[in-house]
Amino acid sequence: MNTIIMGLPGAGKGTQAEQIVATYHIPHISTGDMFRAAMKNKTDLGLKAKEYMDNGELVPDEVTNGIVKDRLAQPDTKNGFLLDGYPRTLNQAKALEETMKEFGRSIDLVINIDVDPAILMDRLTGRIICSKCGATYHKLFNPPKEKGVCDRCGSTEFYQRDDDKPETVKNRIEVNTTQSAPIIEFYKNKGVLKTVNGAEDIDKVFGKIQDFFEETK
Ligand code: AP5
Ligand code: MG
Repeated sequence: MNTIIMGLPGAGKGTQAEQIVATYHIPHISTGDMFRAAMKNKTDLGLKAKEYMDNGELVPDEVTNGIVKDRLAQPDTKNGFLLDGYPRTLNQAKALEETMKEFGRSIDLVINIDVDPAILMDRLTGRIICSKCGATYHKLFNPPKEKGVCDRCGSTEFYQRDDDKPETVKNRIEVNTTQSAPIIEFYKNKGVLKTVNGAEDIDKVFGKIQDFFEETK
């Protein structure tokens, strides 16, 4: 299944993606993760992305469209994929449409995690990520089962993202709110959009997403 997961910063895209890819065995393609890896390795792409990400702005479409197209050309996407954080502008949605056409494929399901922006600040400023395996937690809303120990890999080291500072979060939410409305319309018109209430707890949201997969296959 060729799927997209969308939602405002902190809506729970990455959290749900972890469960989706483990259940359906499709690659998780997160543009944010790709940019962060490039930044860590100080590649040209990383240096370019950094100035935008540090300010909570979007990386320009011509950069982002290219890396996604290259990634979707890889053979592990043949039996489906989960795009997380892409497309994020109408231009990106149209570019993806062209790429899919060129590859003789199409998007089957777009999962839209809908949340009231008012709850996102607390979610992002309390987010912690395992330094070793990348599993995402929240200090209060979704802590590891054993305090300070990653459920998945046992590591005891966690970090917070540079763009989770309150000033940056505020801008990310504003930028993404403006950009997401036309994308929602775009996929609604194509009949592939399914919306879930992201204010519910994590397992409940995932249950709903599993229903979407069942209804779509
Ligand atoms: P990206 O990495 O995609 O960040 P984002 O969209 O801002 O979203 P987040 O990853 O912050 O949130 P999430 O929805 O994954 O939430 P999570 O599951 O972690 O992009 C970063 C930057 O890269 C962008 O700002 C931009 O600069 C650039 N970029 C990326 N893609 C781009 C593109 N296509 N075009 C241009 N630029 C691009 O959950 C958040 C927290 O909430 C966690 O602590 C979690 O435990 C908790 N939580 C999750 N679900 C629940 C729940 N149901 N109840 C309670 N707590 C919950
Ligand atoms: Mg994420």
